This record gives sequence, structure tokens and C-alpha cells, in this order.
Amino acid sequence: MRPEIERALDRLTHSGEDCPTRLREAIRYSLLAPGKRLRPLLVLMAADACGFNPMEGLPAACAVEMVHCYSLVHDDLPAMDDDRLRRGRPTCHVKFGETLAILVGDALLAQAFHVLCQLEMPAEYVVRCCRELAAAAGPESLVGGQVDDLAGLPADCELADLERIHRRKTGALITVSTRIGAILGDADAPTLAALDLYSQNLGLAFQITDDLLDIGGSSIVLGKTTGKDAAQGKVTYPTLLGEAASRQRTADLIAEARDALRPLGYRATHLDALAQFVLQRDR
Ligand code: IPE
Ligand code: IPE
Ligand code: MG
Ligand code: MG
Ligand code: MG
Repeated sequence: MRPEIERALDRLTHSGEDCPTRLREAIRYSLLAPGKRLRPLLVLMAADACGFNPMEGLPAACAVEMVHCYSLVHDDLPAMDDDRLRRGRPTCHVKFGETLAILVGDALLAQAFHVLCQLEMPAEYVVRCCRELAAAAGPESLVGGQVDDLAGLPADCELADLERIHRRKTGALITVSTRIGAILGDADAPTLAALDLYSQNLGLAFQITDDLLDIGGSSIVLGKTTGKDAAQGKVTYPTLLGEAASRQRTADLIAEARDALRPLGYRATHLDALAQFVLQRDR
């Protein structure tokens, strides 16, 4: 499914006569850079697990990747994490300047919803997908999580406070990915609940691993600078729990995610493999 995602992202950002060349270049520079495509894969794999042709879900998969990419471009800005390396390349603002990087994010967020509306589905499905994606990207989820993340937590905070940030800044977009797949596939309530449980556990595990890789990962393999959380004095899972317990927590969450898939049987083979990847990932 990954090559189809790459081709669709390329096609969707090709044209548009009135889009300034430099803006298009900057959008494509960030969006087509080698990301893991975890979120669009989740959309397509969840749709597939619900009996929906994943290729017909490509607009939804690309929409989620566009929201994700906008969040990365803005997350890297000097006013936020002030990062210079992303997906193995200089960050968008380093390459194109801060003004254009802000506008790349704005453009990707708007284009995401434009692309989502290209789903060839009855309008009620498209509306449900739009509502879910807007909520996951909004003030109570991704943006709210980013605000609280940037404000920082006191070193003596509760684990639940940190978990609340992780669930919103990273978890929400991961959970909405399987929800959109489930909507496309007309999943029944038990299947939707199983996929929710899977992706909630996966999302939290994913951010804990991100925190761990910031300490012990390789900048070359990750394609981003490591050691930033410590340099910025950020409270993370490893600072609160220690590295070994954080690793154990990730393993437990992934086990729970995989357990949640059990009712789906063989239909969830790809989602199960993706969960194993998240546990073992080094990038
Ligand atoms: C990085 O996301 C930001 C987080 C939410 C942890 P990814 O690790 O999925 O980044 P890409 O898409 O592969 O570059
Ligand atoms: C990013 O979290 C979450 C979002 C972009 C919404 P991080 O700030 O930890 O992600 P990286 O480490 O820069 O990829
Ligand atoms: Mg950040
Ligand atoms: Mg960051
Ligand atoms: Mg990080």
C-alpha cells in the first residue's frame, strides 16, 4: 500500500496553476520526504480489515498524512521545537524560510480537507470523515496537546498529565486514522471499538517510543536531531519512569493493541504487523 500512498501524495500536489511555484516546491519538499506513512497506512489497513477496497480510501489516507505533515512543519519552527532536521533533510523553515514554512502548514491543513472531499462516497460518509479529522486536528486534540506540550510540565507531575498530552498531540491523529478506515468500511460497533482500542494503545506506545528514540536513537537513522527533549528540559516518559520502565510500558501497550485485534481475526494481519513494527522501530 505504501507505493500507492507515495504516488497519490505526488499526484495530489502536482498541479494547481495558481499555486506559487515556491510554495508548491516547499509543500512537496516536506510532504514527499521519506516519512514512515504510519497514519495513511493505518487508514488503508483499517479500511481493508473492514472489507473496503483500500485503494478507494487513498484520498482519506493522504488527507491524514497532510494534517500530520503540517503539524511537523509547524512543530519544527523556531517558535516551537526549533528543529533543523526532519525526515533526513533540513526542516522546511531552514530550507525555505520561516514565513513560507508557516504558510506550507496552513496550505497542507486546508488541502487535507479538500482532498478528503474527493472520496467517491455518499456525502454522509465524507461528512463523518471530515468531522472526525477536524476534531482530531483541533483545539481539544492535536493543537491542544501541542499547546500543553510547549507549556511544559513540572518535573514532579503525574504520569497521567503526560499521558494526556501524548494522547492529544500524537494519539488523536493515530486513532482517527483507524476510525476513518472503519467509517469507510461501514464497520459495526464492536469492530469500531476494537479498532479504537488498538489505535489508542498504539498511539501512546508510538509517542513513548519517540521519547525513547530522542534519547537512545540514531539521528541518521531517525532523520531528525536527537537529544532535544533533554536539551529543552522536557518531561517525557523516560524522565518520569526511567528508560527500562518506559520500554516495558511500550511493550505492554503494544500487547494490548494486538489483543484488541483478536475479534477481527485474519482480517487484521496487516494492522498486527504494524503494531509489531511500532514496538521494534528505530526510526
Ligand atoms: C513524528 O511522527 C512526530 C510524532 C508525532 C512523534 P513520525 O515519527 O510518524 O514522523 P514521520 O512521518 O515518519 O516523519
Ligand atoms: C510532535 O511531537 C507532535 C506533533 C507534531 C503534533 P515531538 O515534538 O516529540 O515530535 P518530533 O520528535 O519533533 O518528531
Ligand atoms: Mg514538539
Ligand atoms: Mg518536535
Ligand atoms: Mg519527539
